[in-house]
Amino acid sequence: MGSQWGRDKVYVRALKEGYRSRAAYKLREIQEKYHILRETDNVVDLGASPGSWLQVERELTSGIVVGIDLSYIPPVENVITIMGDFTDPHTLEEVRPLLPFTSVVLSDASPKLSGQRTYDQARAIELGENALLFAVQILKPGGNFIVKSFQGQDFNTLLCRVREHFLSVRTFRPHSSRKGSTEIYIVAKNFIGHEWNSETRKNGTNETEGPI
Ligand SMILES: C[S@@+](CC[C@H](N)C(=O)[O-])C[C@H]1O[C@@H](n2cnc3c(N)ncnc32)[C@H](O)[C@@H]1O
Repeated sequence: MGSQWGRDKVYVRALKEGYRSRAAYKLREIQEKYHILRETDNVVDLGASPGSWLQVERELTSGIVVGIDLSYIPPVENVITIMGDFTDPHTLEEVRPLLPFTSVVLSDASPKLSGQRTYDQARAIELGENALLFAVQILKPGGNFIVKSFQGQDFNTLLCRVREHFLSVRTFRPHSSRKGSTEIYIVAKNFIGHEWNSETRKNGTNETEGPI
């Protein structure tokens, strides 16, 4: 974990405070600003390994927390973990019976980087679209969604797709992201649900801020 995340100040702070990675502070920043999670929310976390977001989610809600990752997720107390691919429809079917309803879906998932910028960007956008697809199939109306993406080609297409399903959509770059990283989070609140129509959208607060 040390070599993956770098032994910088944020990483050292994470270790001292018992978090598995510096990523914990990104979610804490998002929560501080947007109040995405409430104290009884049920949560599904996509791309959850090694588990620092799960640790933060467990602190913030007493509801059910489910984490999914391609890689093994070391156990977090009172958290259900699934080793699997969230882009596979069978994974969604495995998750459904675990929660009576889902209030929040979070995705910090990123593809393995090849170093080829255009290719990596396209895969990251595709993963974000898959996270959105997962979210709209499981979220209750009024639910919230966060998805990590990267600035660059097709980012705006992903942002527009998210806007089609949520009344309030913002973009946010946490201070705890690495310097020089193009990573950016889409923070979407108030899932419209399946009753969506153009009137809802017109009357909604569909907003965007931040560096798009
Ligand atoms: C940046 S890490 C997540 C860190 C995590 N939020 C934390 O706080 O510990 C990104 C994760 O996304 C996972 N991932 C990428 N594609 C995935 C997929 N299709 N299904 C499940 N997990 C995926 C990777 O295996 C990797 O563990």
